[in-house]
Amino acid sequence: MNQDELKKALSKLPLGDVKYFDTIGSTNTEALAWATNDAKDLSLVIADEQTAGRGRLDRKWFTPSGTALAFSLIIHPTAEEQAYLTRIVGLAALAIVDVLQARGLVAQIKWPNDVLLNGHKVAGILVESVWSGEEVDYVVIGIGINVLKGAVPPEDLLQFPATSLEESLGPAVEREEILRDILSGIIALRPHLVTDSFITSWEKVLAFRGEQVQIEEANGSFTLGKLLGLEPDGGLRLSDEQSNSITVRFGDVRLRPHR
Ligand code: ATP
Ligand code: BTN
Repeated sequence: MNQDELKKALSKLPLGDVKYFDTIGSTNTEALAWATNDAKDLSLVIADEQTAGRGRLDRKWFTPSGTALAFSLIIHPTAEEQAYLTRIVGLAALAIVDVLQARGLVAQIKWPNDVLLNGHKVAGILVESVWSGEEVDYVVIGIGINVLKGAVPPEDLLQFPATSLEESLGPAVEREEILRDILSGIIALRPHLVTDSFITSWEKVLAFRGEQVQIEEANGSFTLGKLLGLEPDGGLRLSDEQSNSITVRFGDVRLRPHR
């Protein structure tokens, strides 16, 4: 990644400090360590390549060099934001969706942490926290985006189909510009995190809304239901065949369309 281009792209954003790596294990791991040592709010770790990129529950996130965006933004939550931290994954997902929609694409959020283009995963979000006693001191928002086709893992590594921005936008897509616009979107949306309309905006772009879905849990159990929307904390609202309402909280759950 061209560091001059990167600096230029980020120059107008009110970021804390920025650390760039040509290659790193995981930008989230680096950002968590940094946060433990008092990082400024909105500090950024970005890498061209990750050798140990992580998804949820240490699933692997593929980030080959020169093809992807992999970055972690450190948030030092305000007292008001403390009660809304489960919405932060939505903040990142909404900012990504907005940036893709502004480029004419139809992007949706596969609850809880993925962004889809034409039903294929193009981006993933991993939110992790640093605690101080009972309070969250820092939140790290890790974002991985498949920009060029080379970022997409081989099919045998995938549990869900994947795509890249290049697939829809052609090879001229600029990583630095996408990064700038996502960061700027997160910063602009952040004051809305604590509002009711935040949940409405998030619900509007949920994939499979109104459709039958299945929720797979780590213990192998399945829940079937119609995807209705979100709870105030960002949990998923479903209704079962008897129209009973079901809430699915964040955790080791995977959402799939039920066909
Ligand atoms: P899914 O619904 O895609 O199975 P998940 O929610 O169960 O995902 P996550 O932890 O969100 O799992 O994502 C990690 C998974 O994403 C990996 O197990 C792998 O299948 C897939 N993956 C890894 N790298 C990429 C990538 N660059 N693009 C798309 N998918 C990827
Ligand atoms: C997922 O879909 O499970 C989330 C993937 C998150 C990947 C990003 S890439 C930047 C940051 N560093 C990591 O190790 N993971 C996140």
